[in-house]
Formats: sequence, C-alpha cells, structure tokens
Amino acid sequence: MGYLILAFIVLMVVWTCWVEPRWLKIRKISVKLNTSLKRPVTLLHIADSHFPLHLKTLRRFFDKLTAFDPDFVVYTGDMIENDEGVPHCVEALAKLKARVGKYAVLGNHDHYNYSAHDVLAFLFTLMGRFFCPKETNKVEKLKQALAEIGCRVLCNEAVHLDLEGEKIHLIGLDDPVTRKDDPAKAFQNVDGTGIKILLTHSVDVMRKLNNYPVDLALGGHTHGGQVIIPFYGALPLKTHSRLGRKFIVGLNRYQRALTYTTRGIGQGKFFSFRFLCRPEAVLFEIS
Ligand SMILES: [Fe+2]
Repeated sequence: MGYLILAFIVLMVVWTCWVEPRWLKIRKISVKLNTSLKRPVTLLHIADSHFPLHLKTLRRFFDKLTAFDPDFVVYTGDMIENDEGVPHCVEALAKLKARVGKYAVLGNHDHYNYSAHDVLAFLFTLMGRFFCPKETNKVEKLKQALAEIGCRVLCNEAVHLDLEGEKIHLIGLDDPVTRKDDPAKAFQNVDGTGIKILLTHSVDVMRKLNNYPVDLALGGHTHGGQVIIPFYGALPLKTHSRLGRKFIVGLNRYQRALTYTTRGIGQGKFFSFRFLCRPEAVLFEIS
C-alpha cells in the first residue's frame, strides 16, 4: 500500500511539473457578436507567457503558433516575468503572423518583478488591501522593443481600424490588477459604430465598465486556476476574481459583453505547475 501511495505521489509530481505545463492546447472558438460583419475576423489570443521562464517550452509553443495566419495577434499581459524576458518575448512574438496587426496590453508582471515577500503580501490583497511590489520592470523598454517588431502596446488607448469596410475598435487598458487602468481615457474616442474588442489583463475590470461599450473582452491573469480539483474547480488562491468564480476561465457573458479569460501559455516562478488546466492559445473566429 505504501508503495502505491509513493508511486501516485511521484506520478502526480511528474504530471503537474513536467508533463502538463509542456502540453499546449490550441483552442478554436467561434463567437457571434451583436453586429453584422461582412466577413469573419480571426484573432490569436495569447497571455501570461512570463518570459524568460520556461524558455524552451515557450519557444516550442510559439513555433507551433506560426502555423496560423490570423487578422490579429493580441497579447493580454504578463508577457514577461522580469526585464530579462524582453528579448525572448520580442523574438517569439516577431515569429507570429498577423495580416492586420499585433497588439498587446500590460499585466502586473510586466510592471513588477515579484519577490517571495511580494507573494506573501499578495495574500493581503485577497483580503481587500491593495499592494504593489517595490521592484519595477522597465516597461518603456518593453514597449519600445515590441514597437520595433510591429507590436503596439495599448496603455489606456484605443485603435480604430477599418477592415475591408468594417470598423473595429481595439481598446487596450493598462493593468487593472495594479490599478493602472483608466477606462475614461481608453474609451474617449470610441464611438457607437463597428465592433469593440477590449484587451485587458483581467476581465475583472468589467465591473468598472458598465457605462462603456464592449462587445468582446479578452483577458488572462488567472491562468485558469492552474490547478483544478475534480468536482470542486480552481483553488481560490489562484482565482481572485471579484466578478464571479465563473469568470476565472473561458467564455462568459457579462451584461451585453462576451468575456474570455485564457488559461495562458505559461506560469509564474512561484506557482509553476498545472493540473487539469493545460496551457493554451486561443484562435477566435468572430462573426
Ligand atoms: Fe500571469
């Protein structure tokens, strides 16, 4: 009996630490918005790579994603874990194809290099107190490096695109987790026409956007919970959604907007295992 328990523990450690985090799921989702597009818009959604961690795995994942040729590649934050991740992130994103453009928003890990002390302090955040780590990353350097490969980082701003006669507003919020989001600024030039796609590190921000037009909100941050307990779901420590537990992963509806929270493509340094929650990249077909 003792050997069986030991074998089970070893199997679980191998699975959660080595197998599942290296097993990418490319999810394909079709969404129908309340507008009439002349042709479907395709969009590859990536989040939470946390470069330079798990570099070999992430390079393999991005190589797989070069097979797609969507209209847009969107990256909803936690691109890097620290400044050392910048060249690796840029190299990976440069490989991807996008017919119209590549856009990104910043997450909490893009702004801050978290220490073990910060993670402990994060527990207070869960109790309603706000906390920001001391060590900041060089965000301007990240933005500049991404701009050089044609990826625009949207910090509380929107781009208004004409796609074969269809107006598309891509609205990018700066990180809402560390309260850098400014919806009034981001939406100031968004009119009532076309489709409005919100890029945000956390779809939790939808709580603040009741008076703003959003058709589809894309986010990450929760990593889908990373560890899913059968018949229970995600562990509360990795979910931290005030919008509601169901918003920590997948496609949901909040008022008139569809929301999607991706499981993300990587993991952070303090919680780098996964169980029943494979890393993912999502290919959307929007019509
Ligand atoms: Fe993350």
